[in-house]
Formats: sequence, C-alpha cells, structure tokens
Amino acid sequence: MSLAAPFYTSPEVFDLDIAEIFSKQWIFVATEPEIAEPGDFVTVTLGRYSVIIARDDDEQVQAYHNVCRHRGARILAEESGSVGNIVCSYHQWTYGMDGKLLYAEGQSPTFDKSCFSLRSVNVRSIAGLIFICLADEPPADIDDVAAIVAPYLEPHDLRKAKVAKQVDLVEHGNWKLTMENNRECYHCSVGHPELLNTFFPTWGYSDSEAIPTRLRPIFDRFNAAMVEHKAVWDHYGLPHERVAELDTRPTGFHIEREPMDLAGESFTLDGTVASTKLLTDMPVTRLGRLSMHAQPNLWLHITSDHAITFSVLPIGPDTCRVRTTWLVHEDAEEGVDYDLDRMTNVWEITNQQDANFVGLAQEGISSPAYVPGPYAPSEFQVEAFINWYIGRLRFHRGIPDDHLSVVQEAG
Ligand code: FES
Ligand SMILES: [Fe+2]
Repeated sequence: MSLAAPFYTSPEVFDLDIAEIFSKQWIFVATEPEIAEPGDFVTVTLGRYSVIIARDDDEQVQAYHNVCRHRGARILAEESGSVGNIVCSYHQWTYGMDGKLLYAEGQSPTFDKSCFSLRSVNVRSIAGLIFICLADEPPADIDDVAAIVAPYLEPHDLRKAKVAKQVDLVEHGNWKLTMENNRECYHCSVGHPELLNTFFPTWGYSDSEAIPTRLRPIFDRFNAAMVEHKAVWDHYGLPHERVAELDTRPTGFHIEREPMDLAGESFTLDGTVASTKLLTDMPVTRLGRLSMHAQPNLWLHITSDHAITFSVLPIGPDTCRVRTTWLVHEDAEEGVDYDLDRMTNVWEITNQQDANFVGLAQEGISSPAYVPGPYAPSEFQVEAFINWYIGRLRFHRGIPDDHLSVVQEAG
C-alpha cells in the first residue's frame, strides 16, 4: 500500500527525511563532467546543508561543507563555477582546492592555519557518478555497489563525457512521489506517447500472466528485441544481467541492460542516434539502454550515443527539484555531431508529463479523503523504494514497529 498522507505532506516528516535519509545515505549529486577541470565546482543543497563538490589540483573529486572556518559564512554562493582557490567573501579567508586554509589576514603569530581546513564530506565517484554522504560513518556497502555497477558503466566512459545540457525542473510534489513515479511504468502507456516510441511500456511486467492483453504484442516484440540485443552485448562483452538489490542493502540499487524499440539506438522519436560521435569505443549504435536506479534519488539511462542522469533533491514537504543532465562524448560538437533538440526533447517532454502526475498525486494526497491504496504487481519497484525508505528510517531511528509508528512519532 502507498504511505499514509503525512509522509508526503508534513513538515516534520520532511525534516525526518533530511535528517535520516539525505544526511545519512549516499546521495547522487553530480557527474564528473560537471567539474571537468581543476577548480571547477558545483554546490549542492541538502536541507540546511550546503556542500561544495570540487576538482582539486590533482584532479581528484573533493567535497567540503560550504561553511567558512572563520565565522561560518556561506563561502560559494553560486550553484557552479570555476575558481583558483576557495575564497570567503566576508573576510577573505582563502582555501586551496584541497580544502586547506592558505591565507587568513592579520592573525596572531601563533595562529595555526592547519587547524582550520574546510570540513570535508565523504565523496565517491563511481565511474563518473558522484555521490556524497554527510554521515560520519556512511553506509559501507558503497564499495560492494561500486564493484558491481562499475563494469556496466565503465564501457560508456562517463568521466570523459561532456555536458550537452542540464535542466532543473521544480516539481510540486514530495520527493518520494517523484521517486515513486519514476519506479513504475504503469502510467507510461497513456502518460508518455513520445517516450514510448522507443521505451517498451511492458517495463515492470515480469510475469507474463499479469500482462494486459493490449500489451501482449508489445511484450512479444520486447522479447524478440531482447534476444537480438543480448547477442550484441555478449559479442562486445558488455555486462547486461539484471542485479536488483533495491531494498536488500543499505545502498539499494538496480542495474540492467534492456532493449529499446524501433531502431533501438537512442531516445529519439525514431530510435536512431542523436549523436553520431558515440559515447563508447564500440562501433555499434544499437545497444539499447543501460539503466540504473539507486536509492534514494538517482536514475539514469545510457544509450550508445549519450547518457542521461536524473537526480531528485527535496526542497520542501511538497516540492522537489529534478535535475536532468545529458552527457555526450567530450569531442562531440553540437550542430555537427549531434542535434541537441533531437537528443533532449523526448525526455524534456517526458519529465514535464511526470511532473504533472506528481503534482496530481500531491494534490490528491493532501485531501483529508486520501487513504493509502494498493500497488499493482508491475509497481514492484515502488514497493521496493518504500520498503527501503521505511527500512532506513527504522535503522537510523531504531524504530521496531511498522511505518504507522513513524507517523505518530513524527506528529
Ligand atoms: S566568515 Fe569567512 S572569512 Fe570571515
Ligand atoms: Fe513517467
């Protein structure tokens, strides 16, 4: 069943989500191409936290709290940029990209700069996907997850990609509604006519008994495409088996390759590549899609010619931000190798359609008449998301009872 209303509407549960989920789990915040050069940075807001993600002079990815060690001012106000050093605008304390305090004017001779480095945040790049964790002791299974997913991701060389486009969409719904909506395609047949040119609407149906009659011919086409795609993946040594651990480990995830319809190459209306300079060394365009979901806030798709990452960050009880980032080969030139509109328009339309669904769900759940309803079998990933979420709340709060006790505790 879906969760009780306060999980989607109450400020107390919102604070709980920031404290117990977004402050204690690994959170997907950016891709390496967004900070391609030393000095490049992005800032990320998680509740009252602000974190700087930067590339240091040794080209390593670093993360620091965006709080000056002098009197606490917010240091970098911009969402992204490039700097030589990290300089606080208040009294010009100056930090290196390695977080060390380099300069603080007018201090006494005994002042020890080495005691006032920026406070670091746990950060980890998995094949170019940057995750941070604000906890002192982050979930340790990130190493296992990285070992499993990296062989799927690395053939696409995301670290060497470049950002073709990035779009932020503010959705008028609780962040969990956005994630739940992503985790099912029950709504796809009617909701996403453009996406369904290439995305099989049978996604989520594993038991052929439960497939609606109208989807049966599409399911047959999916199975035929799967046979063809598997032969290609095996030929090029690309891992493709489904690994589904969405609610069975602290850092829940799911990864697999799947075929795509029509030309099977890309998320364009006819399924052919949008970039002729591919995002892989393999000389083949029809690779279907590599898709990964990670709890609590990531999904992505990678085709032969580009990658699309999605991150969801909470803004308030009934608002969140969905950031979509399109990545192409670093040498691909817009207008020469790829047509940006053709590459991005299907997912821009799809995102807006999803945002509308999320808004409708938030409105309905906000009514006193709302009562939780049942998930369909094809919504198993929604259930896995909720299981994971409740399991993590229980773990972090030491709550032994079912989710209703969380509602009571949170008021
Ligand atoms: S608060 Fe940053 S230099 Fe003073
Ligand atoms: Fe959708």
